Amino acid sequence: MSMRRKLVAANWKMNGSRAENARWLHGFRDALPACETVVCPPFVYLSQVVEGLAGTAAEAGAQNLSDRTAGAWTGEVTAEMLVDAGAKWVIVGHSERRAAYGEGDDLVGAKAARAFAGGLRPIVCVGETLAQREAGRTQEVVAAQLDAVLAHCAPAQLVGGAIAYEPVWAIGTGRTATPEQAQEVHAAIRARLAERDAGAAEATRLLYGGSVKPGNAAELFRQSDIDGGLIGGASLVAADFLAICAAAI
Ligand code: 13P
Repeated sequence: MSMRRKLVAANWKMNGSRAENARWLHGFRDALPACETVVCPPFVYLSQVVEGLAGTAAEAGAQNLSDRTAGAWTGEVTAEMLVDAGAKWVIVGHSERRAAYGEGDDLVGAKAARAFAGGLRPIVCVGETLAQREAGRTQEVVAAQLDAVLAHCAPAQLVGGAIAYEPVWAIGTGRTATPEQAQEVHAAIRARLAERDAGAAEATRLLYGGSVKPGNAAELFRQSDIDGGLIGGASLVAADFLAICAAAI
């Protein structure tokens, strides 16, 4: 049995409204999960989610942050501002940001470091595209993404955050990685971390993301190196998210 406590995070992506969020938070509070839980809404709803989770063990997170400190950077949000709004966590380097907004490995590493420096716990996303997997490059791509994070952050820092393995081909497609496929990459990530710091590797939580649903979560979370999940579509329905959290205990 590993000593790592399971962590399940909701990534709402660019979804929600004050009214929908209020209904979600009401449903969530009806049956609070026993695993560690993080809810990541769009920036403008962070305060609403922080207030809605007050008095529960669940914590709020953002979906992105700036690599800069405060100043003339139009449209950006600092780690300190997110902490000020009540966020404890932040998703960094999601594949949608890598693909659609040009975030490269080095920027993702810099953002992870900025998150730690500003007092946030980053959930750093890594993962290969379908073309990369079919070319047999999964391990190489994920290792390069991880190394870029380790160029900016000490392995011991990562213990306070998490790494999410999200194969791009499994995100929003209904095509979940098999538990064996996911476990294989998770084990490789942990082994690469262990080359730098064995203790940190053992203690760092590695989350799986990509079409996690109530029906497939338990089998994924049973794998020895899968310490929880990062949930997109299924996290938009409170009951489904709670069912996934229940599978993590
Ligand atoms: P889905 O759960 O919708 O596949 O999204 C996964 C994801 O990208 C979470 O960050």
